[in-house]
Formats: sequence, structure tokens, C-alpha cells
Amino acid sequence: MKEQFEWWRTATIYQIYPKSFCDSGSQGTGDIQGIISKLDYLKTLGVDAIWLTPVYSSPMIDNGYDISDYYNINPDFGAMADFDKLLEQAHQRGIRIVMDIVVNHTSTEHAWFQSALGDKNSPYRDYYIWKDPVDGGAPTNWQSKFGGNAWELDEATGQYYLHLFAKEQADLNWENPQVRREVKDVISFWAEKGVDGFRLDVINLISKQQDFSNDCLGDGRRFYTDGPRVHEYLQEISDEVFQKYGSVTVGEMSSTTLEHCQQYSSVDGKELSMVFNFHHLKVDYSNGEKWTKAPFDFLQLKEIFNHWQQGLNGKGWGALFWCNHDQPRIVSRLGNDQQYRVESAKMLAASVHMMQGTPYVYQGEEIGMTNPGYTSIEQYRDVESTNMYDIMVNELGVSKQDMLAILAQKSRDNSRTPMQWNSSQYAGFSAGKPWLDVAGNYPEINAEKAVADDNSVFHFYRRLIELRKEIEVITTGDYSDMMPEHKNIFCYKRESQSQVLICINNYYGEVVECFLPKSIDLDQGEFVLSNYAGVTEQSPSHCFALQPYETRVLLINR
Ligand code: GLC
Repeated sequence: MKEQFEWWRTATIYQIYPKSFCDSGSQGTGDIQGIISKLDYLKTLGVDAIWLTPVYSSPMIDNGYDISDYYNINPDFGAMADFDKLLEQAHQRGIRIVMDIVVNHTSTEHAWFQSALGDKNSPYRDYYIWKDPVDGGAPTNWQSKFGGNAWELDEATGQYYLHLFAKEQADLNWENPQVRREVKDVISFWAEKGVDGFRLDVINLISKQQDFSNDCLGDGRRFYTDGPRVHEYLQEISDEVFQKYGSVTVGEMSSTTLEHCQQYSSVDGKELSMVFNFHHLKVDYSNGEKWTKAPFDFLQLKEIFNHWQQGLNGKGWGALFWCNHDQPRIVSRLGNDQQYRVESAKMLAASVHMMQGTPYVYQGEEIGMTNPGYTSIEQYRDVESTNMYDIMVNELGVSKQDMLAILAQKSRDNSRTPMQWNSSQYAGFSAGKPWLDVAGNYPEINAEKAVADDNSVFHFYRRLIELRKEIEVITTGDYSDMMPEHKNIFCYKRESQSQVLICINNYYGEVVECFLPKSIDLDQGEFVLSNYAGVTEQSPSHCFALQPYETRVLLINR
């Protein structure tokens, strides 16, 4: 069946955050040699590709999302020779490499910005977005995603530059064809090396409305999200670069819509292969506000999945994911990371892996790693977290204790703690003290233990990755939510000409009765996966009890 599809439609992609993955020495930060040493582990897991978050030269204000040279490797991670070795070693094992491309902005240390700063006549001035002050201050009220106004003054020229993220991340001016030429050159350079694909950072923010007006309704995002020329720009790069090299591409889409994503990932292949959207990861934001501590809205979660699964089917393609380097650990977030850690980690995994799309597994997710539960602001390193702490505590008067509780739930550092390899000091991540504290539970939760235990979260992920290749309906089937109103159960059906697959999940810690409609013919049905012992041996019935965080996958061949 594989030949029928592009490889990535039946693939699973593993995300590596190099700084926290594996240190081959004792500097306390991960490196490329460390990644090479773990390729066999990834082969055992069965992933098809690695998405590597940025390893380019960078002052690391935003851990590599602030690039100062697109053509070189950050010496903290290694040299270009190490990268070449990684590519070769991964390919030898049949694992592809997807690079992260950050081209909405560059570091302010990039040579282009350094030339542009303070010099209106620099040939690079127009690579960035400069505006005169308005009423003696910032040109607009747009907010940076990391807090504060999105404009920074260049004192020498009296103009402001735009930075939608940290002030050390200056937005590129995509209206300038020269900038687009540079971007295409950068991507071609890596494609020529043999890199198999690209993950495009916040790519739906590259086209800004050119009148740069104040946003009296919000933080400015409506003037640059899915902006006026974004599809044109993506088609241009796709046409000149992606299609030429046959690269797989995944765009990170911030606050986007289904309609735009249908076009970004449209099946005619004119823009990108697939998209990440984040709507399902905002169900624990109170009134859309991230910096709050709130329980998650289960019915809304199901509704969002339904909207996207049905909306992309036959039109586009989505990435399936819970975790990445910007999101807290899912088992701590929607599961129960204490009593039912293993059960809930598996249930959450099954509930997205049985959908249509390409699953992404973020390092440590496959062993059920948890949020670390930091209790002091000194433990945090993330620029967004420390900025927000400052703003909320010092400007908005939130108590330190409340803000620490919010960070413990929402901070990006929750997922950036060092990968837990074994129970030796520093979890086997490094011979030296890690840049970010290891979670205290590493003696129990680590890769060595997980690989040795047939019932571990690791082996459950391994099975999910295999099932995607074995069962056609996972790739092709329609999607429908069978119990949209149910308060505890998430049960959806995938259906193709020849197969029906039903994925049944209890999202809570209580036993609950599940009733499947009598119209489902169970004669040819079998449970192909479960996170409780004995279930796959049973013959399916229409009524059964689901244990806490139980998941069952029922397959019916027609
Ligand atoms: C993306 C990255 C995030 C980064 C931001 C700015 O959202 O995933 O880590 O901070 O873009 O580049």
C-alpha cells in the first residue's frame, strides 16, 4: 500500500530539541554527536524522520530561533562535519532529516541586521521593517508574542524595527524580493546537502498588511496572520525550491484558520505538504489567555479535532501532535502524571495517532516524560517565561506564588528539560551539570527502563507507529465523532471502503460505561490495541466498561 502515497502520509516524525537531547561530553548542553549516538534508539522506536529544531549559528536568546548565520552550525552543537555525519548516519538507517527554517525573522546579530542598524543607506536596511515614530513613540500598539510592544527603537536613525517575538529577533521584510531570494538560497543550500525536508517556523506571519495601523481591537495579529501575500510567497518558494528537491514541508501556523490551512497544504502540492495548527492546545487557556491556570475544556477539544479532521480530509494534510518544545508535557496537562501516568500517556497517544495526518513525537513523549514541577523562577531559562514573569509580577501585580503556579503549568521549559536516558546522574543526558534542571523523576522515568519493559509507553508508541503502516484506514478514512456530547469518552470512527476503525478513549480517572451503537457490525471486529491487559484477546461487544484513561482501538474489516 505504501507506494500509493507520498512517504510522509504513513510516516511518523520525531522532533529533537538538540540542546536538551543528548550531550556527548560534559558541557551540559546537547550536541549533534549526542544525537548520532541515539539513532539506534530512534530506529527501534521506528520513526521515519527527525525534525531537528535550529542548529545554526545563534546567540541563543530564543534557543536557536534567533539565527545569526543560516549557513553554519552553532559551535555549541558541533561543526558542519558533525552535521554531515548525522545526515549520513540517519540516512543509513532509513531515517530522513527535516531542518527547521526560521525566516520570519533573524537574530539582530545577523550580518544583515548589523549592517542595517543605524544606517538608512545600508543595502540591507530594506531587509527589515522600519517605521518612523508616531506621537513620539512606537509606530503601532502591536504586541510582541513574548510580551511588551513589538517595536524597538534604533536610536541612531530614530526609526523603529518590528519584532513579533523577542527584541533580538527582527522581522524580515518579505515585500523585498531580495529577501525572498536569500530565503530560497538558504533552503536550497540545505536541500543540496541532502536534507529531506523543512519545518517552517511561524511561516503564516511573513506577510504583513502594509499600512501598519494601530489595532484598536487586539494585539495586531489580525494585520499579519495569514497575511495578504502569504500564499503567493509560499507558492514562489515551493515552485522554485521545494518541488525541485521533492522536500517534505510542514508549516507552523500561528492562530490560523482551517480555510487558510486547506490552501497551505492543498493536495495539488503548490504550497506545503502539511501544517501545524494549535487550536487544540488552547483548550486550557481561560478566555483565550495563555497565562492563566485553568482545567481543560473536553467538549471543546473534541469539537476542534472534528472541525480539523473533517475540514482537511481530501483537501489538505495536518500534523498530529500534542507535544513540542513550546508546549508543556501532555501527560501532565490532559492526563494524570502520577497514579495513571502510563495509562494516560498511552491513551493520549492513541487518541491522536489514530487520526488522519502525520504524527509528530517530541523527545521524551515516547517514555511519558512529565513537567518537572519547578518551584523557583531561578530554574527557568525560557525568554518567554522570564519576560512574562517580569510583566505579570512587576507590572500587573500578580503574586509571585500565583505566577509560579502558572509557569509550572504553562512554561515552555516544561518540555525542554533534559531527555531522561537512564537513572545515572543527570539522567544520563550529560556528564556535566545540565543547562536546565532535570525532572526529579528520572530514576523511574527513563528510556533505558522503558525499552526494557514490554508494557512501557515506549513500546506502545512503537506499536502505534507500526499500525499506521499496517492499517490503511488510518491514512485514508473519513472521520466522525461518535459521542461529541459525552463528558468522559472521546470516541471517533474512521471509515474507508474496506475498513472501519473506532478509537475509544476514556479521558478521566473514573470507570465509565461505553455503549457502541447497535448499527456497528462487530462480527468482523477485533481490538487491535489497548492500554489494559487482556482487552485485545476479548471479542468485541457493544457495551463494556472503560477503566481509568483506558484506550481501545477497534478494527472492523468489511
Ligand atoms: C516558533 C517556535 C518557537 C519560537 C518562535 C519564534 O513558535 O516554535 O520556539 O520561539 O517560533 O521563532
